[in-house]
Parts: sequence; C-alpha cells; structure tokens
Amino acid sequence: MTEVGWVLLPLRAFLGITMIYAGLLKFFDPTFLDAASPNSVQSQMAAAATTSPISAIVSITAEHATLFGLTIALGELAVGLGVLLGVWTRIAAAGGLLLSLSFFLTVSWGTYPYFFGPDIVFVFAFTPLVVGGDGGLFSLTKSIRDATRRRMRLAVPPPAHESPSITAEVSRRALLRTAVTVGALAAGAAALGGVGRAVASGQPSDGGQAASAAAPPTSPTGAAPAGGVQIAAVSDIPVGGVKAFTDPATNEPAYLMQPKAGSFLAYSAVCTHQGCTVGFDQPSDEFACPCHGARFDGGTGDVVRGPARDPLRPITVSESNGVIYAV
Ligand code: FES
Repeated sequence: MTEVGWVLLPLRAFLGITMIYAGLLKFFDPTFLDAASPNSVQSQMAAAATTSPISAIVSITAEHATLFGLTIALGELAVGLGVLLGVWTRIAAAGGLLLSLSFFLTVSWGTYPYFFGPDIVFVFAFTPLVVGGDGGLFSLTKSIRDATRRRMRLAVPPPAHESPSITAEVSRRALLRTAVTVGALAAGAAALGGVGRAVASGQPSDGGQAASAAAPPTSPTGAAPAGGVQIAAVSDIPVGGVKAFTDPATNEPAYLMQPKAGSFLAYSAVCTHQGCTVGFDQPSDEFACPCHGARFDGGTGDVVRGPARDPLRPITVSESNGVIYAV
C-alpha cells in the first residue's frame, strides 16, 4: 500500500495545495459574494443557469447563491486539507471529484472541445485518490490509528491473528479521535475563511464603486423599441458599472455596461476562443476568460490578448423610459 502512496503523492500534493488555494482565493476575493459584481458567484450561477445541462438544479441553488458560494469555498478548503494531510483521503478526494464535476457541468460546460476546460481534468485527477487513497503515507488518519494502538498497548502494525473485537475497538477510538481532528481542522478552515472575508470586505469592490458612482441619467421619453426585450432598468446599472444578463436572442450569458451617463453597451459573455464564460475585471476594464487567459477590451469587445482572435459579439441595446432593451 505504501507504494501506492508514493505513486500518488505528487498528485496528492498538487491537488491538496490547489484546492486550498482555490478556497482561499474565494474568501479573499471582495467580489466573490458581491451580487452586483459580474464576477460574483451569483452572476456566475445566473450565467450557468442558462447554459448548463443541469440548469434546473442550478436555477434552484442560484436562489441561495451566497450560501452555495460559501459552501463551495469551505468545501475546497476541506478537500484540500483532507487530501494534503491524509485525513480520510478517499472521502476528501470523492468530495473534490464531485466539486470538479459540478464545475465542469456549469462553468466549463461551454468549452469546446471539452478537454480545453480544466475541470474535467480535475475530475479524473481525483479518481486515482478515490481508488487508492493515501496508502498510509503522510497520513494523519493512519498516525491517529497507530497512536491509538500504542495507547492501548497493542502492536503496530496489527498482527494478522488479532481478535476482531479488538480491531473494532481500535477503529472506534481512532474514528472518534479523527473526528475530533477533523472538527479542529474545520474550525481552523472556517476561521481562515472568516479572516479572508474580513480582509475582503475591507477592500473596495466593483459593487462598492457602483454604489458610489454617479446617479443614472434622467430617462428620456419614448416608446419601447419594436421587438425589444427588456433586460434591465437604468437604475440597475450605475455609470461605470457592469451588469450580467441573459441575451434573450441566444439565451447566452452577457454583460451590460454604462461607460458614460446615458450610454449603454452590451457584449456576449461567451469567449470567442472555445466558449468559456468571460468575467469582467473592473480594475483593468477588460473581460477576462478563465480558461486560457484571453482578454477583451471593455469598451470595444476587441481582443487585447489571445488565444481568442475574434472580438466579443456585441449586442444591440437601446434605452427608453428608464428601461434598457435588447433589440
Ligand atoms: S475559451 Fe480559451 S481563452 Fe476563452
């Protein structure tokens, strides 16, 4: 079994560190839980609800996006710590597999071909750990079990002829001690997440900028454009702000912007490289694709950095009586 442990150790270290990093990034990101930000979990879930093959489930969970976002961040931390420290490694890896699968079915679902998206790779990267575990190598669970045996003055490793009742008692005590350890780790992870949220809430987010931005323009009078579909109210999008919406023509995620008072722009959020959903990077005023790093100008939709070659698809919008329509 130890051989399995050595074979899987590099994968375990990579996945553990990556999941901890991913969880902490969410806690320390001031836009992650800011519903006004196009990069928030709320906006990402709203976008995924239109494209995911499990859109019915995403739509239901999107109603509790904040709770869901915190659960994902805590789940990533728990999976990372479990895999890295060898605490119930198989269970932790199964959790990582499920998280990655859910990301594949939502965030990465539009990626074509499928292997350009990272989440499907993570699904299969966790599989060997689900099957093989940690092999008892650098394993907190095994250390606790061995310590339990020593306290009970039993041989380590257990002899082949050990009575089943003694083995069962060792398992029971080791399980309790591991559970206490897991509880302590969970409390530590929650405390770390709390520090992250405290730090993040002290940073300005795009939602904060939105709140302090100039008031929306006075609505001109006029009738709704023929064939136009209402996508937002002017009051929803402050000057300099960005709002996620669903393009009624294609059902794809899109962004609406008001760069100057009374001037509205909209772009499809579908990356023209392989179809991932782009996010808006407020400090640089650019759209950024999480899959392969393409960037698009926030004012024109033009490619700033490849591998995408084509600009984001513009969506024609018009404003009438304080309402913005896609036409
Ligand atoms: S899908 Fe490849 S850069 Fe966006």
